[in-house]
Amino acid sequence: MKILVIGQGGREHTLVWKLAQSPLVEKIYCTPGNAGIAQIATLIPCKDDYNELADWAISKKIDLTVVGPEVPLAAGIVDDFHQRGLRAFGPDKKAARLEGSKDFAKQLMAKNDIPTAVHQTFSDADAAITYIQDIRSPVFVKADGLAAGKGVIPGRTPDEAIKAVQTILVDKAFGAAGNNVVIEEELIGEEASFTVLTDGKNCLPFVSSQDHKMSHDGDTGKNTGGMGAYSPAPVITPELHDFVMKQVVHPTINGMLEIGCPFKGVLYVGLMITDDGPKVLEYNCRFGDPEAQVLLPRLKSDLVPLLTACIDGTLDQQTDVEWHDDAAACVIMASGGYPDTYQTGKNITGLENAAELEGVNVFHAGTELKGDNIVTAGGRVLGVTALANDLKAAIEKSYHGVSAIHFDKAHWRKDIGYRALARI
Ligand code: AMP
Ligand code: GLY
Repeated sequence: MKILVIGQGGREHTLVWKLAQSPLVEKIYCTPGNAGIAQIATLIPCKDDYNELADWAISKKIDLTVVGPEVPLAAGIVDDFHQRGLRAFGPDKKAARLEGSKDFAKQLMAKNDIPTAVHQTFSDADAAITYIQDIRSPVFVKADGLAAGKGVIPGRTPDEAIKAVQTILVDKAFGAAGNNVVIEEELIGEEASFTVLTDGKNCLPFVSSQDHKMSHDGDTGKNTGGMGAYSPAPVITPELHDFVMKQVVHPTINGMLEIGCPFKGVLYVGLMITDDGPKVLEYNCRFGDPEAQVLLPRLKSDLVPLLTACIDGTLDQQTDVEWHDDAAACVIMASGGYPDTYQTGKNITGLENAAELEGVNVFHAGTELKGDNIVTAGGRVLGVTALANDLKAAIEKSYHGVSAIHFDKAHWRKDIGYRALARI
């Protein structure tokens, strides 16, 4: 098979790495990709016009396109590819609203009794402010649409919450994504990520995982795309797993089917495990990043038949999926300053030394090739991932890998997995 992967982060490097192990795969292309992906796939230049990309895919006889990030999914790339007779993995535009509109997601949850925070949606700033003044408890204020992970603002005091409403609804800091704002109660607990593959009816849960969103140790600093991840996440006990499947995953998939929007692809549920049980923080319509960097290395089975079964509606026939017992950890090495401003173009050294460590994989996120050198090209630069017998050993191995790699002003958290280690 010839495969096209769309995206350029650590998630896409991990996808390409896993797909390349399949005996079914003869060639992989990636757009736009990065320096790590270029070592296993042929990079093609970014085309913003999906019809042009589909023409290219037809001309190269691409058998399967795998879409990594949410933006092309929400914009309808899968619809465009399917209309041209191409096979593409991921939800169509209507189904991707689960991530593309927080209000849509909340309506689906309300209709299907899926546990989540108490909330209301507003398009009018005065009404939103009155609501905040009336409830007087800490809230989260969220832009309805996609805002590159920046559209969620804590409002722990009424003043902070009102300022967030102004930023989103009045100043339009996130453009049209902020035409509506969702205000919800703050949930207290531990977060976990729950990932399933689904063909619209059937679903296959992945092993559990957890990421670290805050930029600095002890979960302080700023919200980022994710500074590290691990799998399994001990907070997801077998009982919680069953609860989430029964009360969240199945009602979500069935609810989408009932309204004529079967969701096919990766459903990633962000959960808060509260004293009252798990509650949904958000849905994502794709693999988490860095969660993909710990989930895919733990999958022993071939990924290709699972992805095509999601497209064909035959996931129920995939009954012999196998997982590695090993635990996985990923430490993100970021550019100093991320998630605020940072410099790029820094020379990266030691990648070969890290890659030689047994069980260690270095997945590239923001890297590019300049002459013969691999240089930094983004905020999150590398995901240093390791598999080992247990979580403690996997985390140690990841840090061993990190210590082999150098670039100017590199920043990484030193405490990845601390909550999990405290539980074990
Ligand atoms: P979201 O994109 O909706 O998952 O929000 C991003 C991050 O904000 C989450 O991973 C949580 O850390 C935090 N967050 C969002 N909503 C809430 C909430 N209702 N209570 C507590 N934390 C939240
Ligand atoms: N790691 C969080 C996300 O991918 O949204």
